Amino acid sequence: MALRFEILGKFNRARAARLTLPHFVCQTPLFMPVGTQGTIKGLTTSQLEDIGCQIILGNTYHLALRPTSELIDELGGLHKFMNWPRGLLTDSGGFQMVSLLHLADITEQGVTFQSPVDGKPMLLTPEESIQIQLHGFPLLLQNRIGADIIMALDDVVKTTITGPRIEEAMYRTLRWIDRCIAAHERPHDQNLFGIVQGGLDPVLRDICVKGLVDRNLPGYAIGGLAGGEDKDSFWRVVAQCTAALPEDKPRYVMGVGYPLDIVVCSALGADMYDCVYPTRTARFGTALVPGGVLKLKHQAMADDTQPIDPTCECMVCKTYSRAYIHCLVTKDAMGSQLLSYHNLFYMLKLSRDLHSSIVNGQFPEFVCNFLQKMFPKGD
Ligand code: GUN
Ligand code: ZN
Repeated sequence: MALRFEILGKFNRARAARLTLPHFVCQTPLFMPVGTQGTIKGLTTSQLEDIGCQIILGNTYHLALRPTSELIDELGGLHKFMNWPRGLLTDSGGFQMVSLLHLADITEQGVTFQSPVDGKPMLLTPEESIQIQLHGFPLLLQNRIGADIIMALDDVVKTTITGPRIEEAMYRTLRWIDRCIAAHERPHDQNLFGIVQGGLDPVLRDICVKGLVDRNLPGYAIGGLAGGEDKDSFWRVVAQCTAALPEDKPRYVMGVGYPLDIVVCSALGADMYDCVYPTRTARFGTALVPGGVLKLKHQAMADDTQPIDPTCECMVCKTYSRAYIHCLVTKDAMGSQLLSYHNLFYMLKLSRDLHSSIVNGQFPEFVCNFLQKMFPKGD
C-alpha cells in the first residue's frame, strides 16, 4: 500500500484524518478540483498551491488523447508535465467515455468507443485502463502518468435506470476489479481504489462493498451517484456504504459535489470528493458564497462595489469588486478565471473548516452555522 490513513479526530460518523500519499500529506475531508487536459481551467499550479489544493484529479481518457501519453512521458510524467508537486488522482476513463460519448458500448471485454480523434473504434479493457494510469497508453509502457491514486475501471450506469442492467454492472465491476488488481504493477507507489456500484439498491450495494473489502484495497470510492437521483436516495446510499466500509481506509464519493453534499457526506463518514461544479459554474458567471450562489451576470452587480463575498479571504475578494467581475464575465477569460479562483478557494476552505471543526470537537456547531447561512429562512 502506498498510503497511510490516520484518523486525527471523530464526531459520531464524521472523521478528520491525515492521508499520506507518495507526493503529499493531505488533510481530510478534502475536495479535489478536476483538471481535464492536464490543467484546472484558468488557474496556474502555483495559484492552486496558494489556495491550499492538495490533490488534483486528472482524467486518464482526456490525458491519453491530449496532450497524449507520449508527450507526458517525454516530459517526465504528469506531475512534472503540469508542474504539480502535490497529490494526483486519475479516474479510469470508463465513466468519462460513457458520459461523454453516447456511442460507447460496454461488454464483458471492456468499453468500446469511437475515437474522437479519428473516429476508429477503440476498446478500453480493465487491464489497459490500469496500464494507462500507470504508464500511459498500453502501446507505450514506458510512459508514466504516475498518479498517487488510480481508479479501477468500473461499469457505470445512471442511478435513474432500473432493472437487471444495474445488477449486471455491479457484478461486472466486481469481476473487473480482479483484472485491475492483476494488471497493477506498482502497488508500492500507486494506490488502486475500488469503486462501489449497485445503483440505489441496498442489496446490490452491500454485495459490492463486501466484494471490494475482501480485496483489501488501499481505499474505496462510492460511484454511480450525483446522476439525477433525489437527495434522499443519494444520501441513503452514501450512509449505507460508509457504514460498511473499513474505518481505517479513505472513502471517496465520486463526482460530488455541491457544498451542502460535501457537508452531509462528511457527517456520514466520507473523506474525499471531486466535482467540476465550482469551475464549471464559474465559467457561467456564478460565485459560491455562504448564502448559496451569487450570479455576477446579474444587472444588480453592475455598480456593486463590494467584493464577491465580504467574509472571504481570497485574493479575488481582497482585490476586485463585483462590478469589475460583472464587467469581465462572458467578455474576457479573466472573468471566469477570477471566479474559478474564488470558487475553488471556497471549496478548499470548506474542506479545511470541516477538518478543523472535527479535530476541535466543534463539528455540530460548524454544521449548524453552515446550514444557517445557506438557509437563513430555515427552509
Ligand atoms: N465519476 C463520477 N462518478 C463516477 C463513477 O461512478 N465511476 C467513475 N469511474 N468515475 C466517476
Ligand atoms: Zn473570495
